[in-house]
Amino acid sequence: GQYESSPPYYPAPWMRGGNGWADAYEKAQAFVSKLTLLEKVNLTTGVGWEGGPCVGNTGTIPRLNFPGICLQDSPLGVRDTDFNSAFPAGVNVAATWSTRLFKSRGNAMGMEHRGKGIDVQLGPVAGPLGRAPEGGRNWEGFSPDPVLTGVAMAETIQGIQDAGVIACAKHYIMNEQEANRQSTDTVEFAYSANLDDKTLHELYMWPFADAVRAGAGAIMCSYNQINNSYGCQNSYTLNYLLKNELDFQGFVTSDWWAQHTGVASALAGLDMTMAGDQNLNSGDTFWGSNLTAAVLNGTIPQWRLDDMVVRIMSAYYKVGRDTASVPTNFNSWSLETNGYRFPEANESFQQINWHVNVQDDHAKLIREIGGASTVLLKNTKKTLPLSKPKSVAVIGYDAHDNPGGPNSCSDRGCDNGTLAMGWGSGTANFPYLIAPNTALKAQAAHDGSKYTNVSNNYDFAAVAKAVTGAEVAIVFANADSGEGFITVDGNEGDRKNLTLWGGGDALIAYVASIHPNVVVVLHTVGPVIVEAIKQHPNVTAILWAGLPGQETGNAITDVLYGNVNPQAKSVFTWGKTREDFGTDVTYEFPSDPPQLNFPEGVFIDYRHFDAAGIEPSYEFGFGLSYTTYSYSNLKITKQNPGPYEPTTGMTSAAPTFGTIDYNPAHAEFPPGFHAVPQYVYPYISGPVPTGLPQNWPAGSRDGSPQPKVPAGGSGGGNRQLWDVMYTVSATVTNTGSVKGTEIAQLYISLGGPTDPKIVLRGFDDLILSPGESGTFSYDITRRDISNWDTVSQNWVISNYPKKVYVGASSRNLPLSGVLA
Ligand code: NOJ
Repeated sequence: GQYESSPPYYPAPWMRGGNGWADAYEKAQAFVSKLTLLEKVNLTTGVGWEGGPCVGNTGTIPRLNFPGICLQDSPLGVRDTDFNSAFPAGVNVAATWSTRLFKSRGNAMGMEHRGKGIDVQLGPVAGPLGRAPEGGRNWEGFSPDPVLTGVAMAETIQGIQDAGVIACAKHYIMNEQEANRQSTDTVEFAYSANLDDKTLHELYMWPFADAVRAGAGAIMCSYNQINNSYGCQNSYTLNYLLKNELDFQGFVTSDWWAQHTGVASALAGLDMTMAGDQNLNSGDTFWGSNLTAAVLNGTIPQWRLDDMVVRIMSAYYKVGRDTASVPTNFNSWSLETNGYRFPEANESFQQINWHVNVQDDHAKLIREIGGASTVLLKNTKKTLPLSKPKSVAVIGYDAHDNPGGPNSCSDRGCDNGTLAMGWGSGTANFPYLIAPNTALKAQAAHDGSKYTNVSNNYDFAAVAKAVTGAEVAIVFANADSGEGFITVDGNEGDRKNLTLWGGGDALIAYVASIHPNVVVVLHTVGPVIVEAIKQHPNVTAILWAGLPGQETGNAITDVLYGNVNPQAKSVFTWGKTREDFGTDVTYEFPSDPPQLNFPEGVFIDYRHFDAAGIEPSYEFGFGLSYTTYSYSNLKITKQNPGPYEPTTGMTSAAPTFGTIDYNPAHAEFPPGFHAVPQYVYPYISGPVPTGLPQNWPAGSRDGSPQPKVPAGGSGGGNRQLWDVMYTVSATVTNTGSVKGTEIAQLYISLGGPTDPKIVLRGFDDLILSPGESGTFSYDITRRDISNWDTVSQNWVISNYPKKVYVGASSRNLPLSGVLA
């Protein structure tokens, strides 16, 4: 069935310069036409781990003074350097539900990458989407809801690319957990995420469609397999879905060492391999010299190589790298000013870091997002906002500085001190970190409040002393996770449970047992089990502050003291138990290749809780404010965009750019050439193998015109998917006494027996003064009310009656109407 295998789809679609890429394509063609075979190959292949200053570096074209392409982590700032900012994580900016902040953050990050001389920022993230709440890297992305994630993807990508840097949407696709994402000592293969075509379209691919539509220059294919075919050689997900149906015009780069074959991955649609070496520092490569040989002996047609390179260079021109580029001025492998240019080979000692300060005034934006992403979950006695309290006690290591300094653990691979980002490649060094204790102490001094604090979660005697008599006790606790190459406290990337770390639950319970006015602040990567805290009468307020980045202390102080009125709403569901979520990480696999089935289909997060009738502690979309809002006056206007036309017709034939010199002698290492050990080159040594097997997949080398697919034809899919079918509006009124921002949410019921009860489709942030009303309005598109039909391979509007809901959360929807 469709779970076990991935259908072959060939040939790899060639770029056509559509969807706003025409100018870039033209410039790229002119450039690529000038290149030799070796120069073309050089742009497709990384030079090997630590072979250049960036986390990924392609070969160069010295003849044309082209320095190669520099790819750098991460989705929350420039990784492995200094004088950069540490932005709030994806999950935080999502919680603002503000398209303005999505884009501003993207643009500020893009500017920092630009200033460091980076061509490609390796973000944003829509895979993992967040199937399992324990998934180690969920926080790098936005939300398990595909629409919220899709909007955040699109805005972030535009922000990054407006700064003149290529965005790389990752990890395509189904990279939903860390456990066994790669082979291990005990299991030879990476897990295969097994799922059906409908779930793929309606859930996991949705935000990638938005990324393509937004013009993403690059996409990173993932470590895992999809229906038993590796992500970077899966002709169905790359050729059919991404390059044909979504009409992606940019290039596909592998995740680091996620390539497993040379010719097969090229024919299946991979355009760039990273880090270029076959395994870490092996010096061997699937491409480089092997790609050169495969073109020379005719295994890979010229058009496929040319398409790889023209896609890479089109992305380069599309975002204006030709004018925005500055020389790379940092080195990922050392923060010293001088060092080895090739650290693995101990060669070329020289200046490697120029310590360029790219922070600008981004601290302001970081603080703003920090406050705007803090979800007020509980505020029963109107404890908050605080106003010149007589005394404040701040408890918990999560409020305090990491004693070793904020960057003391490599890639943030520890949980010491306040948590402001997870761990792994999705991190950046902190330029500084304002811990909550620092900011709250300053606020107390300013107000003349008595201030006590304890950082040791287990020293209950000290805690008792600090909180006794305090007007308010603020307890900070966290839960961390990250990428699987680092294990922290037994968590191998994915979390092993949904409890608070460092005895956080016991600490909160203890303080609540001796103090009547406890405020809990949670810095967690995702949901934790909070039902007991929620129910405790002495816990008067709970805030989720997520992973706010370098300004965390100032941001939480803004919210606690009411300088910022909370607007954030939870971007995931808070289940009462781990089992309530219905989906979990699979930590160990009995078989090899490991099979990771997705039997729940589209029913993750709130879709699952709704369908199973499970009441969560706090629902998706929930969040309080210091004011209140009411909803009224729903209006639905039907639009008439005309009928949906499936895309038909044929592409043109595959073009080639320039001519290839097929003389293998001209592809050999130049005489006297000094090859840096472990560095990956395009040159061949010795004769090119001939007489190869001719059983490459049918059609894989065919450059003749190919049929377009019905749901394709335009960036992100058939352009009529964005036809407006209905316009919905509603009135939102601030019924309280302070100014605030309300996130109005629109959900749709698709009506079918296998559909979720409701699905999010639109949202907006409305800034309202006390008594003021504003209008929320959303255009419902064809895509918004369609289901994926596996038979016609297209989006279809079912005959089931559809309804629209507008309100404040997924379970607080006062307005509803029929979409007739
Ligand atoms: C592997 C990670 O999965 C990916 O997100 C990252 O960009 C690369 N390593 C490079 O560090």
